[in-house]
Amino acid sequence: MKKFSAGLQELNILETEKIRVTRYSEFLLLYLENLDFTQQIICDFGCGTGVLGIYAAKRGAQSVTGFDIDLDAIGLCKENIDLNDCSNFQPHLISDDIIDEKYDFIISNPASLPTVKASGKEFFSGGIYGIDMIQDLFDFSTQHLKQDGRIFFLQTSLSSINKAANYAHNKGFDYKIIGVFQTEIRDHYQEFWHRVEQNQRTGDAHFVEINGVHSEIVYLVEAKYRDLA
Ligand SMILES: C[S@@+](CC[C@H](N)C(=O)[O-])C[C@H]1O[C@@H](n2cnc3c(N)ncnc32)[C@H](O)[C@@H]1O
Repeated sequence: MKKFSAGLQELNILETEKIRVTRYSEFLLLYLENLDFTQQIICDFGCGTGVLGIYAAKRGAQSVTGFDIDLDAIGLCKENIDLNDCSNFQPHLISDDIIDEKYDFIISNPASLPTVKASGKEFFSGGIYGIDMIQDLFDFSTQHLKQDGRIFFLQTSLSSINKAANYAHNKGFDYKIIGVFQTEIRDHYQEFWHRVEQNQRTGDAHFVEINGVHSEIVYLVEAKYRDLA
């Protein structure tokens, strides 16, 4: 079990080998400290362990709804909800009938690493350009974000920022980077790195290289409906 503090909140999170809390989630939690969750209706999109939704519930959210494509994640998320006494957080499999609900905030740490094998339906990988799940997030948001609601999510520079921002724009959203951090890339497994280098040539991936050590830039993105006035 991972025990950690996010602001004033103590979180106890059970993990499995496949479904865990990542450095990304911890970074997102740091930024979410600035948001007032009191009485807000929240969606945790791609809830995994449930860490983000549990944090929102503890910060006074009226309700939290989680979605994930992985049945194991839903099971683990339920265990973590019980462990942290968050009865107002309900996780659902995304293939279930989606609840007809609109959210003040949709928060997400999407799978956004580029790979060829998977198509955004795994814990880390987001398809060829790393944006499959981000596209799903925007598709979902067009139906489920309140008119004055906001989406907060992370996107690595190893995925295509341009393609994601264009997709958001075409769906009627503003895509704005509001935070950034740099972190070393520890797992250069072959297929993944080959794809990153290929995408870099077309401007669809970026990384920093200092003395042979590669780092990614992780962006915190805020998106909301574009003001069409
Ligand atoms: C990087 S993990 C983040 C998990 C958790 N939110 C966190 O911050 O630790 C991404 C999660 O999204 C789920 N996922 C992947 N593709 C998805 C999709 N298209 N729609 C919904 N969930 C998806 C994965 O099963 C995984 O649990």
